[in-house]
Amino acid sequence: MELKDKVVIVTGAAQGLGRQFALACAENGMKVALSDMNTEVLEKTRKECEDKGVEARGYELNVTQEADVEAVYSQVVSDFGTLDATINNAGILRDGLLVKVKDGNVQKFSMSKWQAVIDTNLTGVFLCAREAAANFLELKKPGVIINIASVARSGNFGQSNYSAAKAGVSAMTVLWAQELAQHGIRVAAIAPGFTATEMVVSLRDDIKENFVKSIPLRRFAEPSEMSDGALFILRNDYYSGRVLEIDGGVRIWAISQVRRKTHCFTLWQFWFGVQAGWLLNTSLAPLIRWSRWLIVSCLLPLFPGYIAVFPVV
Ligand SMILES: NC(=O)c1ccc[n+]([C@@H]2O[C@H](COP(=O)([O-])OP(=O)(O)OC[C@H]3O[C@@H](n4cnc5c(N)ncnc54)[C@H](O)[C@@H]3O)[C@@H](O)[C@H]2O)c1
Repeated sequence: MELKDKVVIVTGAAQGLGRQFALACAENGMKVALSDMNTEVLEKTRKECEDKGVEARGYELNVTQEADVEAVYSQVVSDFGTLDATINNAGILRDGLLVKVKDGNVQKFSMSKWQAVIDTNLTGVFLCAREAAANFLELKKPGVIINIASVARSGNFGQSNYSAAKAGVSAMTVLWAQELAQHGIRVAAIAPGFTATEMVVSLRDDIKENFVKSIPLRRFAEPSEMSDGALFILRNDYYSGRVLEIDGGVRIWAISQVRRKTHCFTLWQFWFGVQAGWLLNTSLAPLIRWSRWLIVSCLLPLFPGYIAVFPVV
């Protein structure tokens, strides 16, 4: 899609990634409709976008409220005369363990924390995507829906609610791309890794240090690295039904650690199985043969390529 003069709605646009998505779209000549619950901060972002020489309007919106979402999307179409894209970015964190023991008592993860994140991060994305798609159909034109997921969609410690919501967002992205392609509507998602926004910067220093250690590139992402992904999706007319991971390698790292252990275990299981089989048959020739296997089995894990030799998981 050629971006100049196209109209995009960004939710959660007051600060963080939403602000960055709005600024990047404005820099590339798009007209921006910014929405957020925090109207005071939103106005600052709106002004920053306007300073880039494009039309920029702010809308108070809580993405969990169906009627409000419907009203704001209609208002945007009426104000700008059209709609070309939505970036469904608004999201919150309410972390906690499923259960934990404190002072000898078992504590359960609260329903209010669960529901708050599901309402904002899952239902909010559903409502905004549905409204954007309905408007594209009414306007009889193609459009682009970008959902903001997270690397946590694969499951992250202490984030039952957040991971469940982001996994749901990723799944909906794929199925909406399938359903809406016939109308010329593309749907894709971005799964950011840890990004230096208010959400992350406000964490305790020791927690941040631990996060950075888990990232192969050893730093948080810059918000602009996420907006580069959004611009790519908006521009590339053949990109749909995919979740673009921009995570500094963090997920690859986690999987490779699990694989490494699993493969060592599988290798040893295999070797002991073979030795047991030989003992039952009692013959000396295989002993010599399998001793060679023993040496190879011990050396194999030292070479990085061994994972390709035993692709078990
Ligand atoms: N920062 C990261 O490291 C990171 C990583 C992965 C995914 N994400 C995702 O990116 C998105 C933005 O995150 P961020 O880091 O910029 O967060 P942030 O807290 O800095 O900003 C979130 C914005 O959303 C708004 N918002 C919250 N609830 C809302 C609601 N119900 N309706 C409308 N607006 C609402 C807030 O007012 C705020 O302006 C979220 O969906 C988040 O899950 C962030």
